[in-house]
Amino acid sequence: MTDKIDELLRRVEAFRPKAAAELEEFRVRVLGRKGELNALMEEFKRVAPEYKRELGQRINGLKTAATERINALKEQLQQSCADEGLAIGDMTRPGTAEGIGSRHPISLVRNQIVGIFSRLGYTVADGPEIEDDWHVFSALNFPPEHPARDMQDTFFIMRNPDVLLRTHTSSIQVRTMERQRPPIRVICPGRVFRNEAISARAHCIFHQVEGLFIDEGVSFADLKQSILYFAKELFGEQATIRLRPSYFPFTEPSAEVDVSCNLCGGKGCNVCKGTGWLEIMGCGMVDPNVLEANGIDPKRYSGFAFGMGVERIAMLKYGVRDLRLYFENDVRFLHQFDAAL
Ligand code: PHE
Repeated sequence: MTDKIDELLRRVEAFRPKAAAELEEFRVRVLGRKGELNALMEEFKRVAPEYKRELGQRINGLKTAATERINALKEQLQQSCADEGLAIGDMTRPGTAEGIGSRHPISLVRNQIVGIFSRLGYTVADGPEIEDDWHVFSALNFPPEHPARDMQDTFFIMRNPDVLLRTHTSSIQVRTMERQRPPIRVICPGRVFRNEAISARAHCIFHQVEGLFIDEGVSFADLKQSILYFAKELFGEQATIRLRPSYFPFTEPSAEVDVSCNLCGGKGCNVCKGTGWLEIMGCGMVDPNVLEANGIDPKRYSGFAFGMGVERIAMLKYGVRDLRLYFENDVRFLHQFDAAL
């Protein structure tokens, strides 16, 4: 009987099935009710008591080894079927549906803004988020005592005044002027960082799109026309703009741009606080000091720059009241933008 047990054990170990059906047939033949193992059990009942102990152990060992081996083979076969892309089991069952993701509203609006300026001939430029003083402030004509250079407003890294997180993507414009001669026409989307308390209207991380256009004979009228085109493309043909005088160290003259409120059509509502206008961006003619600092002759070339916050534009376009919603990743909020392209 020992020989029979050993022989079966060898066969189990040597068995290499090619298909699941072959394995199943083998399992029934060995472990099934009328299988070889049970036949051995029957025989075991009749052995003399002095052999029972040893033979019993051998049969139990065989049973465990055969069960484990067959289970392992089953798993192997399933794995190789899955590798070949074949479904095991009922092939007519419907598949599991994949949840389809959607673009984040900030990406959608950024893509829209970039798309509009691409059609005006702007190309996209990129730059680092960790910057130095020159690219964020000095090259942009910020006076040494300007408050933006203060710890309260800018995130410095390791308290080093020359390693900081960019507070605007104007730094990309500086990097563009370094490597490219006019004509320059770039759009600079990116994340920016400011040391501000988080509220419904402000966040310490947000997104900007800034633009720069430098060539011979570029005038304020060109700036105004480009922004009017942009506003109509983004908010609709009925949109109008107005410019209010403002101040930025890197532009002279500077202006802030308002667009007619797209929610009330300019009549006045609680979003535009009854004024009929919504502020959308800052802009101006590039200060000659900035051109000079970047090696561009201000007597020959002039240009304009503009910059806007993507969260703000998205709030105005979609009537979002709290900026924090963009950062919470609540899918109930995000899925509302599935259809917006
Ligand atoms: N850099 C300015 C800001 O971050 C925006 C701006 C860009 C204003 C270009 C004028 C011209 O607020």
